[in-house]
Amino acid sequence: MQGLIKEMVRNASRNHRIHRTKFDLFRNKSTLMGAFAPSRSRMYAQPHDFNILRDDMEHDTSLPTFMVGYKNGFLPRQEPLARLPERFYALEYLLQNMPIHLPNGEGGLLSKGQLGEAVKDLPQYDVSDINDQRLLSALFRDYTFLTSAYLLEPCDIMYREKKDYGLGRSVLPKNIAIPLATLVRAFAGTPSEHGFILVHVAMVAHSGNLVKHATETLEATQEQDRVKFNNALKHLNDTMTLINQEMDTMWERSNSMDYLKFRTFIMGSKNQPMFPNGVVYEGVSEKPLFYRGESGANDSMIPCMDNLLQITSKLPNNPLTEMLKDFRRYRPTNHKEFLEFVQKKAEELNVRGFAIHDANSTALYLANMDQIRAFRHRHWNFTKEYIIKNTMHPVATGGSPIVTWLPNQLGTILDQMSKVGQTINYNELTPENKIIVDEIINRVDSQERVLKREVEFLKQKFGSNQDRVVV
Ligand code: HEM
Repeated sequence: MQGLIKEMVRNASRNHRIHRTKFDLFRNKSTLMGAFAPSRSRMYAQPHDFNILRDDMEHDTSLPTFMVGYKNGFLPRQEPLARLPERFYALEYLLQNMPIHLPNGEGGLLSKGQLGEAVKDLPQYDVSDINDQRLLSALFRDYTFLTSAYLLEPCDIMYREKKDYGLGRSVLPKNIAIPLATLVRAFAGTPSEHGFILVHVAMVAHSGNLVKHATETLEATQEQDRVKFNNALKHLNDTMTLINQEMDTMWERSNSMDYLKFRTFIMGSKNQPMFPNGVVYEGVSEKPLFYRGESGANDSMIPCMDNLLQITSKLPNNPLTEMLKDFRRYRPTNHKEFLEFVQKKAEELNVRGFAIHDANSTALYLANMDQIRAFRHRHWNFTKEYIIKNTMHPVATGGSPIVTWLPNQLGTILDQMSKVGQTINYNELTPENKIIVDEIINRVDSQERVLKREVEFLKQKFGSNQDRVVV
């Protein structure tokens, strides 16, 4: 209780740097695990408000690393620690020598299948006394990277030889399982892998404005202020345009033929044939556990848009949608709470209803839906080109069925766009909006038809495993 009060006093003194939205505030403090993975949220104030950082408070190491802000958006508040302190020398040494390609041109432990043996010499570090959020983030990143590498090392070797993944290790030793931590260190270390990571980061670098204009949209709806609402949607659309433009650079920054070379190590253990019985985390749980692997589905930008425009509640009631909700549990606590806040507020205020009350607002609302469509459409193209073209492995890194899950969401946004398009009274549109709406609707019709055909064809090719959905 004392700690709780201290925390509240400390937070109060920081409040001048935290923007209080017109809505209530959450205040949370995260533990090592709580800051990242499926988490219990700890709320210290009423559950209807949200604190958004006004600046990223880079030097404050007591606040969680992941806090939604106007400047940092969904990126961490602070630069991650590149190297671990001396106390973790053995772990740092192991990780430096782990990648398949070392910076000096030699092959690292993973290139020769020596990681499993090397892990035996790793001390079991006690990380329970660490409060510095920056160090906690670095440890979380490093231990989860090591976990994936250790569990999937045999699959990588098998895949390189036989183009089949075989089985992963099913027991994670105590010295990793107990002090478990997070990812973002390169495994294969190729330019395509760096490009792949960079494109994600470059996109999220625009998310501060996404947060800003999303909250402005909510505020304008609450105030029933048409001019402010249209402005917020216009800015949101500009921001999403930039994000989508960054995404398009993936084609040149990361060669599609290289993707499968570094993909193995981002696979999870949930709904993955390599881990039919899950993984026993020694000293943590005797019962095998199943976790999703690394995936863009853990990113917060598209869920923020889905929630704001009330697309989430329009997704079909099926196991694929349940899986999307399951993915949403894999987020830093503060992101998760922010997304829940946006969803609840948008439904309560009825953002969509306010938009379709006015033809020109509807055009702007539709333009923003079109940004979600553009994202998902390009993304589906990535998946066909980088993955489906090169492997018959039935599930993606996050454990979703490869040919049905993404189209579940892409199909929904297309369908919803048609429905919103039908509500527009063309006579009330400005000439400029008439052109925009026409273009959008024509594209939606043709993409809907193509997507249906593609999914039918791919379902036949991949067979019944695509109906297996594990939530
Ligand atoms: C070559 C590039 C990419 C490929 C091959 C790819 C592939 C995939 C696949 C197969 C999934 C299904 C989920 C799973 O892992 O089980 C997924 C989900 C997702 N990915 Fe990517 N991805 C790529 C780039 C990106 C980028 C740059 C972002 C940007 C943040 C991103 C964001 C997402 C999102 C938001 C989802 C959830 C899908 C949805 O909500 O409909 N992906 N990705």
